[in-house]
Amino acid sequence: MIIRKAVNKDIDEISDLIQKVTDYNPNNYSPEQIVAWKKYNAKSEIKKQLNDRLIFCAIEDNKTIGTIALKENFILGFYVNYSIRNIGIGTKLLDYLEKYALCNNIKKLKLTSTPSAIEFYKKRGYKIKENVTLSIYGVDYPEVEMEKILSAKTYAQHLI
Ligand SMILES: CC(C)(COP(=O)(O)OP(=O)(O)OC[C@H]1O[C@@H](n2cnc3c(N)ncnc32)[C@H](O)[C@@H]1OP(=O)(O)O)[C@@H](O)C(=O)NCCC(=O)NCCS
Repeated sequence: MIIRKAVNKDIDEISDLIQKVTDYNPNNYSPEQIVAWKKYNAKSEIKKQLNDRLIFCAIEDNKTIGTIALKENFILGFYVNYSIRNIGIGTKLLDYLEKYALCNNIKKLKLTSTPSAIEFYKKRGYKIKENVTLSIYGVDYPEVEMEKILSAKTYAQHLI
C-alpha cells in the first residue's frame, strides 16, 4: 500500500469510496442524513474540496482503499473501504497525516468524530473536547470534537 497526495484523477474513486462507506451506516443515520452526506461527497464536491484542503489517498493494486484530509489543523474526510476494515489501514493513514502535520509545524490536530469512531480516536491519543452538531445541507449530525497535541517525542516513542 502507498499513501500519496490525491490529484484530479483520484476524484471519482475517492467519491465512490465515500458513497459506499456511507451505506455501511454503523451510526444508524436517517435516510435524510445519508442523502445529505452523499451529496456532500459527490464527485463535484470532492473536486471543490481538492482545492481547499490536502487530501491523501491510500492506494493498493491501483485502487483507492482509503482517504484522509487535512485543512489547516483539522482532520476531515477519513474513510477506509468497509470491506477491508480492521487490518490497520486507518491507523496507517492517521499516522501518515500526523507525521505530515508535525513536519509542517502543526502542533495540535482537531477533528469532529462520528459516534462510531470515537473509541478509535481515543485509543490513538485524541481527547474529547465537546459535543457539536454539524449541519450539512440543513441536516444535523451529532458529532464530538476531539483534539490531540502532537509531539515529536511521543511520536518517536510510538514508532519504536
Ligand atoms: C475509522 C476508520 C477510518 C478506521 O479504519 P480501519 O482501517 O478499520 O482502522 P484500523 O484497522 O487501523 O483500526 C481499527 C481497529 O482494528 C484493529 N487492527 C489494526 N490492525 C489490525 C490487524 N492487523 N488485525 C486485526 N485488527 C487490527 C485496531 O487495533 C483497531 O482496533 P482498536 O480501535 O480497538 O484499537 C474506518 O472504520 C472508517 O472508515 N469508518 C467510517 C468512516 C468514519 O467513521 N471515519 C471517521 C469519522 S470522523
